[in-house]
Amino acid sequence: MRKTIIAGNWKMNKTHTEAAKTLKELAALVIDKENLGGVEVIIGAPFTALESAVRATEGTPIAIAAENMSEHASGAFTGEISATMLKELGVEYVILGHSERRAIYGETDATVNAKVKAALKAGLKPILCIGEQLEDRESGRTNEVNGTQLKGGLEGVTTEDMANVIVAYEPVWAIGTGVTATPEMAEETHAFVRSALVELYGNAVAEEVTIQYGGSMKPGNAPELLAQKNIDGGLIGGAALEADSFYGIIAAGK
Ligand code: 13P
Repeated sequence: MRKTIIAGNWKMNKTHTEAAKTLKELAALVIDKENLGGVEVIIGAPFTALESAVRATEGTPIAIAAENMSEHASGAFTGEISATMLKELGVEYVILGHSERRAIYGETDATVNAKVKAALKAGLKPILCIGEQLEDRESGRTNEVNGTQLKGGLEGVTTEDMANVIVAYEPVWAIGTGVTATPEMAEETHAFVRSALVELYGNAVAEEVTIQYGGSMKPGNAPELLAQKNIDGGLIGGAALEADSFYGIIAAGK
């Protein structure tokens, strides 16, 4: 049985004090592992808030993710952060290949792939983001684009490593727009992504990979999205900024 994983992506929001405050509020709602009924909870926070976030969630079932990292292990890369630096802080996950990183900072499938491999090597679990632009969908290229990003991102990633990889499907046109893919539309692409994983790793491995949906997910639309066969969680931006609304989505995943 694959895991249901609800992850927040705070993007460039919250100072370290704000992060600690929200996480204390969230921890009070989450209560304990038993209350989550098997749902796993992750919060992706900015680099400057990670240490506070790890501290604020100690002894709770909330895991912390970074939102990016360098593909390099160490060296002359001014301004960059390595996987080892994150791991040593107590960070468990890292969001990689988010559409904002691809569109604004020019990350390619090759860069994302190098980051995925560097994360795994350091013992961090990558959340590999893929997703088509509106024009891709309108020109009937949704599967092609997602297939290319998935295969590119996972190039050289072993079957054993796949136990530590989460895939997040985020249709770019649904991010921060209030427009959500209908549950049927999302399910169709999730099923395609699963079939692409079957091609790469075989049925047994593909069945175990958590595939999250991201793009204007809220407490109101989460139950229907999460009820789909191949939607195993969410990667949430706006609605993860407040503990109450994020917990509403977690509750829908139980
Ligand atoms: P929104 O939930 O704000 O649409 O953002 C989704 C996202 O980009 C999560 O990574």
